[in-house]
Amino acid sequence: MLQNIINELTQYEKMVLKGLESFNYETTPENIVESQNLNIKSVMSAAGALESKGLIEVQKDVNEFISLSITGKGYAKEGLPERRILKTLNDEDQIPMKDLSNKADLDSSEVKIAIGWLLQKKWATIDKGIVTITEAGRNAVSNEYSDELLLEKLLEVNKLLFFNPSKLIKEGFDLLKKRKGILDVKKEHKYYLKVTKKGKQLLEMGIDIKEDATQLTHEQLKTGSWKKLNYRGYDVQAEHPDTFPGKMHPLQRTIEDIRQIFLKMGFTESSGTILESAFWNFDCLFQPQDHAAREMQDTFYIKNPKNVNLPSDELVENVRMAHENGGCTGSEGWGYLWDVEVAKQSVLRTHTTCVSARYLAENKPPLKMFSVGRVFRRETITYKHLPEFHQVEGIVAANDITFKNLLGILKEFYHKLGFEVRFRPAYFPYTYLSVECEIYLPDKETWIELGGAGMFRPEVLEPIGVKTPVAAFGLGIERLAMMRLDIKDIRMLYKSDIGWLRKLPVKLD
Ligand code: DAH
Repeated sequence: MLQNIINELTQYEKMVLKGLESFNYETTPENIVESQNLNIKSVMSAAGALESKGLIEVQKDVNEFISLSITGKGYAKEGLPERRILKTLNDEDQIPMKDLSNKADLDSSEVKIAIGWLLQKKWATIDKGIVTITEAGRNAVSNEYSDELLLEKLLEVNKLLFFNPSKLIKEGFDLLKKRKGILDVKKEHKYYLKVTKKGKQLLEMGIDIKEDATQLTHEQLKTGSWKKLNYRGYDVQAEHPDTFPGKMHPLQRTIEDIRQIFLKMGFTESSGTILESAFWNFDCLFQPQDHAAREMQDTFYIKNPKNVNLPSDELVENVRMAHENGGCTGSEGWGYLWDVEVAKQSVLRTHTTCVSARYLAENKPPLKMFSVGRVFRRETITYKHLPEFHQVEGIVAANDITFKNLLGILKEFYHKLGFEVRFRPAYFPYTYLSVECEIYLPDKETWIELGGAGMFRPEVLEPIGVKTPVAAFGLGIERLAMMRLDIKDIRMLYKSDIGWLRKLPVKLD
């Protein structure tokens, strides 16, 4: 453990530690600079690193220093302007204000300042433009004021540590501070380095200052001499700042992962529109026109456009017959009067199965197609329901496709996402046999329902002219994403909670 720390020390860190050892474990950085022949920057950065490793303590004091500006130096040499006026006043007792500049050899802006200070220091009074020296002024001629004393001192010593100042210096400082641009106040940091207990243990183990190899040369690589060089260890667990690289939203990530699985399984991708006719969304899927799912409280009907154009008359007629009497499908149909106006209604698609129906009407088997898209249902928003969500829908059509193939495809798909799946018998108007897929949640030891699947019925296939069996499935995506992200509330997926999003991994398991 300690040996690892030693291995990870840089050359400079070792030198600073050794340097401290020679000063009996504590000294100033300046002493290390001198004894180890390093520059102060290297010593300070090595000291910082040693401190973060707990090997030394860095004590820091802030010192304030005061010194004179150029103007300040001028005043220190020639005297403050009020002092210069006082000297002439002492000779002449009274001077008209307008003559001050000449007599004391000051420019007019200095005269203004000087008058202010003459009055403040009570060295003179002014009456009707005449400046008269006071008693205090006379006394002051041979006595220096605290600001003047400080000026002199600063001129002599150049810079003064302003720490616990005497009363006089403090007074002088306060006076000079009232004038602009006389004093420079600088803060200087003073450091003191002390080896900690851990650092001492390390030193006792012996620190060997050997040159570390940093950048290898071509020569070293060619001759093999790199093998004998000394390399510094890296602390791969060193603290690092958090970074939040840009990444895909987890729902989109899930969609992309799903797309990749189907693409790799040889499916072609297709898509449809969100606005769909009831014809493609319901009628051609053999969903009777009085089916509960078509009710206004379940489906969003669109006012504008109210209707959507229907496909060819022949196809529409075939669907009508399938519903009314089974047509040429070998079925009896639903036995009611089918209304073309109902089929024209525009809806927000309630499932992506309409994409599959359209694709089958336009493409000849054999085919494998999937699509991913948003669907809409009139649901109240809760932690597990949203009025819009995503589905992945697929069909496989070929002469020898069977129900077992369908179950195999779904198993394969869920396994690739890391889930166990099981099937339960179900009912959909457009499939027979039909199943619901459920995936297993090991944490909760329960199964949850994620979608439906089945073999499209002849009442669906005959009217659109498909002669082969078609295996079909439609699966919810949000719930899958929730499992992968381990979230309990579906709304999280749409909330854009930046804190949560940042913490998520770039790739989901
Ligand atoms: N459309 C069904 C739903 O939204 C899911 C579904 C069931 C799709 C069976 C299919 C299918 O393609 O064959 O719940």
